[in-house]
Amino acid sequence: MSATPTATTAEATSTERVQQHRRYLMCRPVHFTVSYSINPWMEPSRPTDTNLALQQWQSLYDTYTSLGHEIELIDPVEGLPDMVYTANGGFVIDGVAYGPKFRFRERAAEAPAFIDWFAASGFEVAEPVEVNEGEGDFLLVGDTILAGTGFRSTGDSHREVGEVFAREVVSLTLVDPRFYHLDTAIAVLDPVEGPGGVEKANIAYLPTAFDERSQAILRERYPDAIRVSDSDGSVFGLNSASDGKNVIISPRAVGFEAQLRERGYTPVMVDLSELLLGGGGIKCCTLELRGGAR
Ligand code: ARG
Repeated sequence: MSATPTATTAEATSTERVQQHRRYLMCRPVHFTVSYSINPWMEPSRPTDTNLALQQWQSLYDTYTSLGHEIELIDPVEGLPDMVYTANGGFVIDGVAYGPKFRFRERAAEAPAFIDWFAASGFEVAEPVEVNEGEGDFLLVGDTILAGTGFRSTGDSHREVGEVFAREVVSLTLVDPRFYHLDTAIAVLDPVEGPGGVEKANIAYLPTAFDERSQAILRERYPDAIRVSDSDGSVFGLNSASDGKNVIISPRAVGFEAQLRERGYTPVMVDLSELLLGGGGIKCCTLELRGGAR
């Protein structure tokens, strides 16, 4: 982490936020379109504008680089219109990349493309046995992996990801088909790492996207979480990327924007309306690369 938090744990209650350096994997939406439907947002009969998708994607890229983050690019593959959603391409911690295994055959060919990229880019690859869609369903919050199931990644993949990374995994069940990946229903706002490890980790989430059991777990583990409204959730407000200080969000998530400001974060609005036609937003287009060679 390049930005060393100078604030102590008192920061948790103050409004000062500390930016952390991020390294992300992205994929230019050169071949973006909606030619099939594997989530309720995708409507193949509605036309898409690939140039607009490229422009909007570029604004996300430029936002990250202007904040000082590092972006790696994977080559887009013709015939794989969803490859722009790199969050599904794997889950990376400490230079180890757990590879994806997609639920639907339409995306199956993305898996070897991502796995090859990791191998060629100095990551140690853990080949998956179980169906999982990477950081779309696995979120690192402090030292814990929150893992989603219900629509895409299987419960068995939660066990597998725990074995690969030797970390605690908390399984959460999604129940609303609009929020089919965990990263559409939870945003990780921190961790803030200090000399003694993770001092404070917080999230924002949409309670109604989860079953009762999962809601109870989230309430108990994250009593300070931001709970977003249904209207902010349904514009993919939670599908956002945070560096601990700046939180890149959809301009339509106006309530979430205000909640973030109240907590001392700096919301940065980036509109990916065209990519939402494929059922993805800011976080979907962003895979965090933790550790590893560069
Ligand atoms: N069309 C893609 C799919 O249904 C969108 C993926 C969005 N990615 C995400 N991390 N939520 O698989």
